Amino acid sequence: MRRTLRKWSPFIAAAAVFALAPALSAQLTQYDLEPRSGMESHIGNITGHAKDAKADYRRFCVGCHGELGDGNGENFPWLDPKPRDFQLGIFKCRSTPTGTLPTDEDLSNTLARGLDRSNMPQWSNLTKQQRADLVAWVKHFSPRWVSEKPGTPIQIPAEPEVTPERIKAGRDVFAKVQCWKCHGVEGKADGPSAATLTDDQGRPILAFNFTEGARPKCGSTDQDLYKIFMTGLDGTPMPSFADNIKPDEAWDLVFYLKALEPQKSKEKAIAKQLGLKPVDPNAPPPSGQ
Ligand code: HEC
Ligand code: HEC
Repeated sequence: MRRTLRKWSPFIAAAAVFALAPALSAQLTQYDLEPRSGMESHIGNITGHAKDAKADYRRFCVGCHGELGDGNGENFPWLDPKPRDFQLGIFKCRSTPTGTLPTDEDLSNTLARGLDRSNMPQWSNLTKQQRADLVAWVKHFSPRWVSEKPGTPIQIPAEPEVTPERIKAGRDVFAKVQCWKCHGVEGKADGPSAATLTDDQGRPILAFNFTEGARPKCGSTDQDLYKIFMTGLDGTPMPSFADNIKPDEAWDLVFYLKALEPQKSKEKAIAKQLGLKPVDPNAPPPSGQ
Protein backbone atom coordinates (compact mmCIF):
# COMPACT_ATOMS: atom_id res chain seq x y z
CA MET A 1 0.00 0.00 0.00
CA ARG A 2 2.67 2.47 1.08
CA ARG A 3 4.83 1.67 -1.93
CA THR A 4 2.04 2.46 -4.41
CA LEU A 5 1.18 5.67 -2.60
CA ARG A 6 4.76 6.87 -2.82
CA LYS A 7 4.69 6.48 -6.59
CA TRP A 8 1.68 8.78 -6.84
CA SER A 9 2.09 12.51 -7.02
CA PRO A 10 1.31 14.17 -3.66
CA PHE A 11 -1.74 15.81 -5.19
CA ILE A 12 -3.35 12.55 -6.33
CA ALA A 13 -2.52 10.89 -3.01
CA ALA A 14 -4.16 13.72 -1.07
CA ALA A 15 -7.23 13.63 -3.30
CA ALA A 16 -7.52 9.86 -2.85
CA VAL A 17 -7.31 10.10 0.94
CA PHE A 18 -9.88 12.86 0.93
CA ALA A 19 -12.29 10.80 -1.16
CA LEU A 20 -11.89 7.77 1.09
CA ALA A 21 -12.25 9.63 4.38
CA PRO A 22 -16.06 9.72 4.72
CA ALA A 23 -16.40 6.01 3.90
CA LEU A 24 -13.68 5.08 6.41
CA SER A 25 -15.07 7.16 9.23
CA ALA A 26 -18.50 5.53 8.92
CA GLN A 27 -16.98 2.05 8.91
CA LEU A 28 -15.70 0.18 11.92
CA THR A 29 -12.02 -0.81 11.55
CA GLN A 30 -9.78 -3.53 12.97
CA TYR A 31 -8.57 -0.92 15.48
CA ASP A 32 -12.06 -0.52 16.94
CA LEU A 33 -12.37 -4.28 17.28
CA GLU A 34 -8.93 -4.97 18.73
CA PRO A 35 -9.84 -4.06 22.34
CA ARG A 36 -12.64 -6.62 22.24
CA SER A 37 -10.48 -9.49 20.98
CA GLY A 38 -10.20 -10.75 24.57
CA MET A 39 -13.91 -11.74 24.38
CA GLU A 40 -14.77 -15.17 25.81
CA SER A 41 -17.65 -17.59 25.55
CA HIS A 42 -18.75 -20.19 28.10
CA ILE A 43 -20.52 -23.30 26.86
CA GLY A 44 -20.88 -26.10 29.41
CA ASN A 45 -17.36 -26.55 30.78
CA ILE A 46 -15.68 -25.14 27.66
CA THR A 47 -14.29 -21.61 27.54
CA GLY A 48 -13.98 -20.10 24.08
CA HIS A 49 -11.37 -17.44 23.29
CA ALA A 50 -12.02 -15.02 20.44
CA LYS A 51 -8.33 -14.76 19.56
CA ASP A 52 -8.10 -18.52 18.97
CA ALA A 53 -10.82 -18.33 16.30
CA LYS A 54 -9.04 -15.84 14.07
CA ALA A 55 -7.68 -18.45 11.65
CA ASP A 56 -10.90 -20.49 11.56
CA TYR A 57 -12.96 -17.37 10.91
CA ARG A 58 -10.65 -16.43 8.02
CA ARG A 59 -10.88 -19.89 6.59
CA PHE A 60 -14.54 -20.74 7.08
CA CYS A 61 -16.59 -17.58 7.60
CA VAL A 62 -14.96 -14.51 6.11
CA GLY A 63 -16.14 -15.14 2.53
CA CYS A 64 -19.71 -14.50 3.64
CA HIS A 65 -19.58 -12.54 6.91
CA GLY A 66 -16.63 -10.32 5.96
CA GLU A 67 -13.37 -9.34 7.65
CA LEU A 68 -15.17 -6.87 9.93
CA GLY A 69 -18.17 -9.14 10.58
CA ASP A 70 -20.51 -6.77 8.76
CA GLY A 71 -21.87 -9.44 6.41
CA ASN A 72 -20.05 -7.88 3.49
CA GLY A 73 -17.90 -10.84 2.45
CA GLU A 74 -17.09 -11.39 -1.21
CA ASN A 75 -20.11 -13.70 -1.60
CA PHE A 76 -22.54 -11.01 -0.42
CA PRO A 77 -23.95 -10.10 -3.87
CA TRP A 78 -25.01 -13.67 -4.65
CA LEU A 79 -26.61 -14.67 -1.38
CA ASP A 80 -30.25 -14.46 -0.36
CA PRO A 81 -30.92 -14.20 2.53
CA LYS A 82 -27.83 -12.04 3.10
CA PRO A 83 -25.09 -13.07 5.57
CA ARG A 84 -25.67 -11.66 9.02
CA ASP A 85 -24.05 -8.38 10.08
CA PHE A 86 -22.52 -9.32 13.44
CA GLN A 87 -21.89 -5.67 14.31
CA LEU A 88 -25.63 -5.30 14.97
CA GLY A 89 -25.66 -8.06 17.59
CA ILE A 90 -29.14 -9.21 16.46
CA PHE A 91 -29.86 -12.94 16.20
CA LYS A 92 -32.77 -15.05 15.05
CA CYS A 93 -32.20 -18.20 17.08
CA ARG A 94 -32.39 -17.57 20.81
CA SER A 95 -33.67 -19.21 23.96
CA THR A 96 -33.87 -15.68 25.39
CA PRO A 97 -36.71 -13.11 25.18
CA THR A 98 -37.08 -10.88 22.14
CA GLY A 99 -34.73 -7.89 22.10
CA THR A 100 -32.12 -9.59 24.29
CA LEU A 101 -28.81 -11.19 23.35
CA PRO A 102 -28.71 -14.96 22.84
CA THR A 103 -26.72 -17.19 25.18
CA ASP A 104 -23.34 -18.53 24.08
CA GLU A 105 -24.95 -21.94 23.91
CA ASP A 106 -27.66 -20.64 21.55
CA LEU A 107 -24.96 -19.39 19.16
CA SER A 108 -22.98 -22.61 19.39
CA ASN A 109 -26.13 -24.63 18.65
CA THR A 110 -26.81 -22.42 15.64
CA LEU A 111 -23.31 -23.10 14.29
CA ALA A 112 -23.77 -26.84 14.74
CA ARG A 113 -27.21 -26.76 13.09
CA GLY A 114 -26.69 -24.28 10.26
CA LEU A 115 -29.58 -22.18 9.01
CA ASP A 116 -31.96 -24.01 6.70
CA ARG A 117 -33.12 -22.24 3.53
CA SER A 118 -30.00 -20.07 3.58
CA ASN A 119 -26.33 -20.50 2.58
CA MET A 120 -25.27 -20.65 6.22
CA PRO A 121 -23.75 -24.16 6.44
CA GLN A 122 -23.80 -26.62 9.28
CA TRP A 123 -20.50 -26.56 11.24
CA SER A 124 -20.93 -29.87 13.03
CA ASN A 125 -17.52 -31.02 11.70
CA LEU A 126 -15.72 -28.47 13.90
CA THR A 127 -14.86 -29.42 17.49
CA LYS A 128 -16.85 -27.95 20.39
CA GLN A 129 -13.77 -25.92 21.29
CA GLN A 130 -13.53 -24.46 17.77
CA ARG A 131 -17.23 -23.55 17.87
CA ALA A 132 -16.84 -21.96 21.32
CA ASP A 133 -13.89 -19.89 20.04
CA LEU A 134 -15.90 -18.83 16.97
CA VAL A 135 -18.84 -17.83 19.18
CA ALA A 136 -16.50 -15.54 21.15
CA TRP A 137 -15.16 -14.14 17.85
CA VAL A 138 -18.70 -13.50 16.53
CA LYS A 139 -19.47 -11.66 19.79
CA HIS A 140 -16.38 -9.43 19.58
CA PHE A 141 -17.83 -7.69 16.50
CA SER A 142 -20.67 -6.05 18.46
CA PRO A 143 -20.37 -3.58 21.35
CA ARG A 144 -23.63 -5.03 22.72
CA TRP A 145 -21.66 -7.79 24.42
CA VAL A 146 -19.64 -5.24 26.33
CA SER A 147 -22.65 -3.27 27.59
CA GLU A 148 -25.28 -6.04 27.95
CA LYS A 149 -25.64 -9.54 29.31
CA PRO A 150 -27.58 -12.25 27.42
CA GLY A 151 -31.27 -12.51 28.33
CA THR A 152 -32.53 -15.15 30.77
CA PRO A 153 -33.69 -18.20 28.78
CA ILE A 154 -37.47 -18.61 28.77
CA GLN A 155 -39.01 -21.34 30.91
CA ILE A 156 -40.50 -24.19 28.90
CA PRO A 157 -42.94 -26.30 30.93
CA ALA A 158 -42.78 -30.08 30.54
CA GLU A 159 -44.42 -31.24 27.32
CA PRO A 160 -47.98 -32.47 27.98
CA GLU A 161 -49.68 -35.45 26.36
CA VAL A 162 -51.05 -34.81 22.85
CA THR A 163 -54.86 -34.99 22.80
CA PRO A 164 -57.50 -34.12 20.18
CA GLU A 165 -58.68 -31.30 22.49
CA ARG A 166 -55.20 -29.79 22.58
CA ILE A 167 -54.83 -29.86 18.80
CA LYS A 168 -58.20 -28.16 18.38
CA ALA A 169 -57.23 -25.61 21.05
CA GLY A 170 -53.96 -25.04 19.16
CA ARG A 171 -55.89 -24.24 16.02
CA ASP A 172 -57.92 -21.68 18.00
CA VAL A 173 -54.67 -20.04 19.19
CA PHE A 174 -53.37 -19.97 15.58
CA ALA A 175 -56.62 -18.15 14.66
CA LYS A 176 -56.77 -15.85 17.69
CA VAL A 177 -53.22 -14.44 17.55
CA GLN A 178 -53.36 -14.38 13.74
CA CYS A 179 -50.41 -16.50 12.76
CA TRP A 180 -52.37 -17.01 9.53
CA LYS A 181 -51.91 -13.38 8.50
CA CYS A 182 -48.38 -14.28 7.42
CA HIS A 183 -48.30 -18.08 7.45
CA GLY A 184 -51.70 -18.57 5.75
CA VAL A 185 -54.73 -20.47 7.03
CA GLU A 186 -53.20 -23.78 5.96
CA GLY A 187 -49.63 -22.84 6.93
CA LYS A 188 -48.57 -22.40 3.29
CA ALA A 189 -46.94 -18.99 3.85
CA ASP A 190 -49.64 -17.31 1.75
CA GLY A 191 -51.49 -15.15 4.29
CA PRO A 192 -52.70 -11.64 3.37
CA SER A 193 -49.48 -10.04 4.74
CA ALA A 194 -47.07 -12.60 3.27
CA ALA A 195 -46.23 -10.83 0.02
CA THR A 196 -45.14 -7.56 1.65
CA LEU A 197 -42.92 -8.80 4.49
CA THR A 198 -39.44 -7.30 4.87
CA ASP A 199 -36.72 -7.79 7.48
CA ASP A 200 -35.19 -4.99 9.58
CA GLN A 201 -32.80 -4.18 6.73
CA GLY A 202 -35.76 -3.66 4.39
CA ARG A 203 -35.07 -6.84 2.43
CA PRO A 204 -38.03 -8.98 1.32
CA ILE A 205 -38.45 -12.11 3.47
CA LEU A 206 -40.73 -15.12 3.15
CA ALA A 207 -42.85 -16.49 5.99
CA PHE A 208 -42.26 -20.14 6.84
CA ASN A 209 -44.26 -22.70 4.86
CA PHE A 210 -45.20 -25.47 7.28
CA THR A 211 -46.48 -27.82 4.59
CA GLU A 212 -43.26 -28.30 2.58
CA GLY A 213 -41.40 -30.47 5.05
CA ALA A 214 -38.70 -27.80 5.49
CA ARG A 215 -36.75 -27.54 8.72
CA PRO A 216 -37.24 -24.38 10.76
CA LYS A 217 -33.94 -22.45 10.95
CA CYS A 218 -33.86 -22.48 14.69
CA GLY A 219 -34.45 -26.20 15.19
CA SER A 220 -37.29 -28.65 14.67
CA THR A 221 -37.85 -30.36 18.02
CA ASP A 222 -41.11 -29.64 19.85
CA GLN A 223 -39.13 -27.49 22.32
CA ASP A 224 -37.53 -25.57 19.43
CA LEU A 225 -40.96 -24.78 17.93
CA TYR A 226 -42.17 -23.60 21.34
CA LYS A 227 -39.11 -21.34 21.64
CA ILE A 228 -39.45 -19.90 18.12
CA PHE A 229 -42.84 -18.25 18.62
CA MET A 230 -42.32 -17.43 22.31
CA THR A 231 -39.02 -15.58 21.65
CA GLY A 232 -39.48 -14.43 18.03
CA LEU A 233 -36.84 -14.28 15.31
CA ASP A 234 -35.24 -10.90 15.98
CA GLY A 235 -34.46 -8.83 12.91
CA THR A 236 -37.42 -10.36 11.02
CA PRO A 237 -41.21 -9.75 11.03
CA MET A 238 -41.67 -13.00 13.00
CA PRO A 239 -42.62 -11.57 16.40
CA SER A 240 -42.49 -12.94 19.92
CA PHE A 241 -45.88 -14.03 21.26
CA ALA A 242 -44.74 -14.30 24.89
CA ASP A 243 -47.24 -11.60 25.90
CA ASN A 244 -50.17 -13.11 23.96
CA ILE A 245 -49.89 -16.86 24.47
CA LYS A 246 -49.89 -18.63 27.86
CA PRO A 247 -47.36 -21.44 28.38
CA ASP A 248 -50.02 -24.17 28.31
CA GLU A 249 -51.63 -22.72 25.16
CA ALA A 250 -48.18 -22.60 23.60
CA TRP A 251 -47.98 -26.39 23.77
CA ASP A 252 -51.42 -26.64 22.10
CA LEU A 253 -50.08 -24.45 19.31
CA VAL A 254 -46.93 -26.59 18.91
CA PHE A 255 -49.18 -29.63 18.44
CA TYR A 256 -51.26 -27.81 15.85
CA LEU A 257 -48.14 -26.71 13.92
CA LYS A 258 -47.02 -30.33 13.84
CA ALA A 259 -50.41 -31.30 12.40
CA LEU A 260 -49.77 -28.81 9.55
CA GLU A 261 -46.39 -30.36 8.72
CA PRO A 262 -46.30 -33.17 6.15
CA GLN A 263 -44.15 -35.45 8.33
CA LYS A 264 -45.89 -38.43 9.91
CA SER A 265 -46.77 -37.62 13.52
CA LYS A 266 -49.26 -38.42 16.20
CA GLU A 267 -50.60 -34.89 15.81
CA LYS A 268 -51.14 -35.33 12.07
CA ALA A 269 -52.94 -38.64 12.56
CA ILE A 270 -55.26 -37.16 15.18
CA ALA A 271 -56.01 -34.08 13.06
CA LYS A 272 -56.88 -36.34 10.13
CA GLN A 273 -59.16 -38.45 12.30
CA LEU A 274 -60.89 -35.30 13.56
CA GLY A 275 -61.28 -34.02 9.99
CA LEU A 276 -59.77 -30.80 11.32
CA LYS A 277 -60.44 -27.85 8.99
CA PRO A 278 -58.07 -24.88 8.49
CA VAL A 279 -58.87 -21.76 10.48
CA ASP A 280 -61.51 -19.46 9.04
CA PRO A 281 -60.45 -15.82 9.47
CA ASN A 282 -64.05 -14.68 9.04
CA ALA A 283 -65.55 -16.98 11.67
CA PRO A 284 -66.57 -15.52 15.04
CA PRO A 285 -63.96 -16.20 17.76
CA PRO A 286 -64.35 -19.59 19.51
CA SER A 287 -66.77 -19.52 22.47
CA GLY A 288 -65.37 -18.41 25.79
CA GLN A 289 -62.91 -15.91 24.30
C1 HEC B 1 -21.71 -19.45 2.41
C2 HEC B 1 -21.97 -18.32 3.28
C3 HEC B 1 -21.75 -18.45 4.77
C4 HEC B 1 -20.66 -18.96 5.43
C5 HEC B 1 -19.42 -19.56 4.86
C6 HEC B 1 -20.94 -18.75 6.84
N1 HEC B 1 -22.16 -18.16 7.01
FE1 HEC B 1 -23.02 -17.63 8.78
N2 HEC B 1 -24.67 -16.96 7.80
C7 HEC B 1 -24.81 -16.94 6.43
C8 HEC B 1 -26.12 -16.42 6.11
C9 HEC B 1 -26.67 -16.24 4.70
C10 HEC B 1 -26.74 -16.12 7.33
C11 HEC B 1 -28.14 -15.57 7.50
C12 HEC B 1 -29.17 -16.67 7.32
C13 HEC B 1 -30.56 -16.25 7.69
O1 HEC B 1 -30.74 -15.18 8.24
O2 HEC B 1 -31.47 -17.03 7.45
C14 HEC B 1 -25.80 -16.46 8.38
C15 HEC B 1 -26.05 -16.30 9.72
C16 HEC B 1 -25.14 -16.57 10.73
C17 HEC B 1 -25.38 -16.35 12.14
C18 HEC B 1 -26.65 -15.76 12.76
C19 HEC B 1 -27.52 -16.81 13.43
C20 HEC B 1 -28.80 -16.25 14.03
O3 HEC B 1 -29.31 -16.83 14.98
O4 HEC B 1 -29.30 -15.24 13.57
C21 HEC B 1 -24.22 -16.71 12.80
C22 HEC B 1 -23.97 -16.65 14.29
C23 HEC B 1 -23.28 -17.19 11.80
N3 HEC B 1 -23.89 -17.07 10.55
C24 HEC B 1 -22.00 -17.61 12.06
C25 HEC B 1 -21.11 -18.11 11.10
C26 HEC B 1 -19.79 -18.59 11.40
C27 HEC B 1 -19.14 -18.56 12.76
C28 HEC B 1 -19.26 -19.04 10.22
C29 HEC B 1 -17.94 -19.72 10.00
C30 HEC B 1 -17.67 -20.89 10.80
C31 HEC B 1 -20.26 -18.80 9.19
N4 HEC B 1 -21.36 -18.23 9.76
C32 HEC B 1 -20.07 -19.10 7.86
C33 HEC B 1 -23.90 -17.37 5.50
C34 HEC B 1 -22.68 -17.96 5.78
C1 HEC C 1 -46.02 -10.60 10.72
C2 HEC C 1 -45.84 -11.87 10.08
C3 HEC C 1 -45.77 -13.10 10.95
C4 HEC C 1 -46.65 -13.53 11.92
C5 HEC C 1 -47.90 -12.82 12.42
C6 HEC C 1 -46.16 -14.81 12.37
N1 HEC C 1 -45.02 -15.14 11.70
FE1 HEC C 1 -43.94 -16.84 11.94
N2 HEC C 1 -42.60 -16.21 10.57
C7 HEC C 1 -42.69 -15.03 9.86
C8 HEC C 1 -41.53 -14.92 8.99
C9 HEC C 1 -41.24 -13.78 8.03
C10 HEC C 1 -40.75 -16.06 9.20
C11 HEC C 1 -39.44 -16.44 8.50
C12 HEC C 1 -38.24 -15.86 9.21
C13 HEC C 1 -36.95 -16.28 8.56
O1 HEC C 1 -36.95 -17.03 7.60
O2 HEC C 1 -35.92 -15.86 9.06
C14 HEC C 1 -41.46 -16.86 10.20
C15 HEC C 1 -41.01 -18.07 10.67
C16 HEC C 1 -41.70 -18.90 11.54
C17 HEC C 1 -41.28 -20.20 11.95
C18 HEC C 1 -40.03 -20.92 11.46
C19 HEC C 1 -38.86 -20.32 12.16
C20 HEC C 1 -37.54 -20.86 11.73
O3 HEC C 1 -36.75 -21.12 12.64
O4 HEC C 1 -37.29 -21.02 10.52
C21 HEC C 1 -42.24 -20.68 12.83
C22 HEC C 1 -42.23 -22.03 13.54
C23 HEC C 1 -43.25 -19.66 12.94
N3 HEC C 1 -42.90 -18.58 12.15
C24 HEC C 1 -44.40 -19.78 13.70
C25 HEC C 1 -45.34 -18.76 13.85
C26 HEC C 1 -46.49 -18.87 14.72
C27 HEC C 1 -46.86 -20.10 15.51
C28 HEC C 1 -47.15 -17.68 14.65
C29 HEC C 1 -48.33 -17.24 15.45
C30 HEC C 1 -48.26 -17.48 16.89
C31 HEC C 1 -46.41 -16.84 13.71
N4 HEC C 1 -45.33 -17.53 13.25
C32 HEC C 1 -46.77 -15.55 13.35
C33 HEC C 1 -43.69 -14.10 9.94
C34 HEC C 1 -44.76 -14.13 10.82
